[in-house]
This record gives sequence, structure tokens and C-alpha cells, in this order.
Amino acid sequence: MADSDNKLAWITGGGSGIGKALALALDQQGWQVVISGRTEPKLQAVAEQGRHIVYLLLDVTDRAQNLAVFNTLCEQYGLPNLVVLNAGDYTPMPAEAFDLDLIYRLNQVNYLGVMNGLASVLPAMTARQSGQILLMSSVAGYRGLPDAAPYGATKAALINFAESLHRPLKAQGVMLRVVNPGFVTTQLTAQNSFKMPAQITTTEAAKRIVQGLDSDSFEMTFPKRFTYVLKVLRCLPYRLYFFLIGKITGK
Ligand SMILES: NC(=O)c1ccc[n+]([C@@H]2O[C@H](COP(=O)([O-])OP(=O)(O)OC[C@H]3O[C@@H](n4cnc5c(N)ncnc54)[C@H](OP(=O)(O)O)[C@@H]3O)[C@@H](O)[C@H]2O)c1
Repeated sequence: MADSDNKLAWITGGGSGIGKALALALDQQGWQVVISGRTEPKLQAVAEQGRHIVYLLLDVTDRAQNLAVFNTLCEQYGLPNLVVLNAGDYTPMPAEAFDLDLIYRLNQVNYLGVMNGLASVLPAMTARQSGQILLMSSVAGYRGLPDAAPYGATKAALINFAESLHRPLKAQGVMLRVVNPGFVTTQLTAQNSFKMPAQITTTEAAKRIVQGLDSDSFEMTFPKRFTYVLKVLRCLPYRLYFFLIGKITGK
């Protein structure tokens, strides 16, 4: 079977939200999907909803477990040609409630958890010289946003990291890309007390990601009516950025 026909995907954080919707969307398209996360009943329920979805329990913050799970996956199903390092966590942090434990937690999951996944996957993919890896980042990583410092910093780190490795890995046949969604309705965004502009469903988000798989662009971002506004804000000088973001958010 040609590698492009080998539709095997591994999705971390596949038991809920965007990861779950993506697993189901890929399943519909005939992919074999392996999902991972910490909560077995959630993973089991997703597996039961699909035709070709199986699960392997994983806490992405556990470095050794990442490699062990990836090795099991490869032994049982083969080397995936799509890996979506999607597991993530979010809690807002107002400036007056600086929370070092939260900062550590989000770094462990959102940044180091993704690094653990990458470390497991990259040697096999570069040896095979093919494969696609999506890092689930966020438009919150474009620039600092009020109340989102611990989260946004982890997502900015992912974008920066992937920018550094994108070209060298492409030369080795491996596509490392970022997904930067705007607001998607999930348990994470349910914590936001403000009105979220241009919010989309997980099904819509999954559809956009599946549509983007055949592109070779570095970034997938959606919905563009919102994320392109943030792209413009990203280019502004600091004084103007802080003025506008203050006007928009009231913070
Ligand atoms: N929703 C949005 O608007 C939005 C926008 C931009 C980016 N994102 C990103 O999209 C990704 C998915 O988030 P979501 O919104 O779909 O929320 P979600 O439903 O909470 O999904 C996050 C998933 O990550 C898993 N997870 C958390 N910690 C983990 C750990 N230590 N090890 C393994 N799995 C872990 C969770 O499962 P368990 O708790 O069972 O392990 C959960 O299934 C995140 O990276 C998030 O930052 C979301």
C-alpha cells in the first residue's frame, strides 16, 4: 500500500471536543483512528460511535508513557501518517490572580505534552521520510491577550517551535504544521464569561481540519472571518495593539 493510502491517524485528546469530532470525521472518511487521553469512559464512548476508532490510554505529561503508547500503536496498527497532538488544557488567569501552579500545569500539558508526543513520533517519521504532524495551537498564541497569559504563552511556544522545525523537517519528508482555531464550543471555552465572537462547533472545526489535510501550508486557521482580524492585530506596533485590545476587551 502506498503511504498516501495508509490512512492511519493518532489523535491525542480524542475523548472530547475538537479531537473527538476530528476522530469521527476521519472515521467517516475511512481512516483507522487511534485516540488517546486519560479518561477511559470518554475514549470508549468515542470508539463505540465510530467504525474504525480504537483507543490507548495516555497522560501526555508522562514522557515514558508517550513513547510506550506510540510503540504499542505502531506494533498493533503500523506507523501513522497523520498525528494530531491536540490534547490541551485551559483556565483563564486574571492578572490579579497570578497562579504559578496553573502556569506549570498548562506548560506540562500544552507545551511539554506536545514535545513528548513529537519526541516519540519524529524518529520513525523522519526514518520513513513521510507523515504529517499537526500541533493544536490557537490564535491565542498570536499575541498576548488579557486573562489568557498561561494558556497563550504555551500556544505561542508551539507556533514558534513549529516555525523553527517546519522547513528542515519538510526536507526530510515530514510535514509539521500548526492548527490555530478561533473559538470552538467545547468544555474549555465554556469557562469563558465573555462573549466569544465567531464561535464555531467542533464538527465545523473538524471539517476545516480534514479539508486542510491535503494542503501543504504551514498553518490551518479558522474561521477566517475572526482569525484574520487577529492576524492584522498581530502586525500592529505595541502601542496601537494595546490600545485596540484594551478597547475590544475592556482590559
Ligand atoms: N475550544 C477552543 O476554542 C480552542 C481554540 C483553539 C485551540 N484549542 C485547542 O484545542 C485542543 C482541544 O481542546 P478542546 O477545546 O477540544 O477541549 P477538550 O474537549 O477539553 O479537549 C481536550 C482534550 O485533551 C485531553 N487532555 C487534557 N489533558 C491531558 C493529558 N494530560 N493527557 C492526555 N490528554 C489530556 C482531555 O481528555 P482527558 O481529560 O480525558 O485526558 C480532552 O479530551 C486543545 O489543545 C486546545 O487548547 C481549542
